[in-house]
Amino acid sequence: MRIVLLGAPGSGKGTQSQLLVKSFGIPQISTGDLLREAVAKGTELGLRAKAAMDLGQLVDDATVLGMIRERIAKPDAVNGFILDGFPRNIVQAEALEKMLDSIGTPLDAVVLMNLDLGILFKRLSGRRICQDCGQVFNVYTAPPDGGAQSACGSTHRLIQRPDDREEVIGKRLEVFEAQTKPLIQYYQGAGLLRSVDADADVSTVFASIERALRGA
Ligand code: AP5
Repeated sequence: MRIVLLGAPGSGKGTQSQLLVKSFGIPQISTGDLLREAVAKGTELGLRAKAAMDLGQLVDDATVLGMIRERIAKPDAVNGFILDGFPRNIVQAEALEKMLDSIGTPLDAVVLMNLDLGILFKRLSGRRICQDCGQVFNVYTAPPDGGAQSACGSTHRLIQRPDDREEVIGKRLEVFEAQTKPLIQYYQGAGLLRSVDADADVSTVFASIERALRGA
């Protein structure tokens, strides 16, 4: 199955992708994670991307499309994938369509995760990540179990993503409104869009996504 998770920053795409990986046995492809990996390694691509990411803007299309082309050609993606954070604008959506058409494997569904702006802001400003094991928490909705032994073998050492600072969150939400939201109509027109309410606990949202995909 080839799925796109479409939603604003903080709508839960990453959280739900992890559950879908287990349930469908296909990989999560997150352009945000791929870019952060490049930033951490200090590659030329990473250095270029960092400037845009720190400002809450989109990384240029050519860079992101090159990364995606390479990633979906890997053997683990042959039976499908979950695209998390891609496409992000019409140019990327059209390029993806061409890419998949050329290998005869079109998208099966695009799941739109709906959430109010106020909640998005809280989810992003409250997000913390363990710098050792990568587990994602939220100081408001999913705090770590105070001081307990963690999956990474010690107490989690939590950090905040640089773009989860309040002054950057506003810009990211603006970029979503201006550049990513038009994809809703784009995929509606293509008959691929399935809408879910993302304002519920993690397992309820997951059940809605599974239901939406079963009809795809
Ligand atoms: P990216 O990493 O893709 O970030 P994003 O789309 O802004 O999404 P997030 O990862 O912030 O949120 P999410 O929806 O995954 O939510 P999560 O599950 O973590 O992109 C980062 C940057 O990279 C971009 O700004 C851009 O610069 C660049 N970039 C990436 N892709 C690009 C592209 N295609 N083109 C150009 N540039 C690109 O959840 C958030 C928090 O909420 C967590 O704390 C979680 O615990 C909590 N939570 C989740 N679900 C629930 C729930 N149901 N109830 C309560 N709390 C919940």
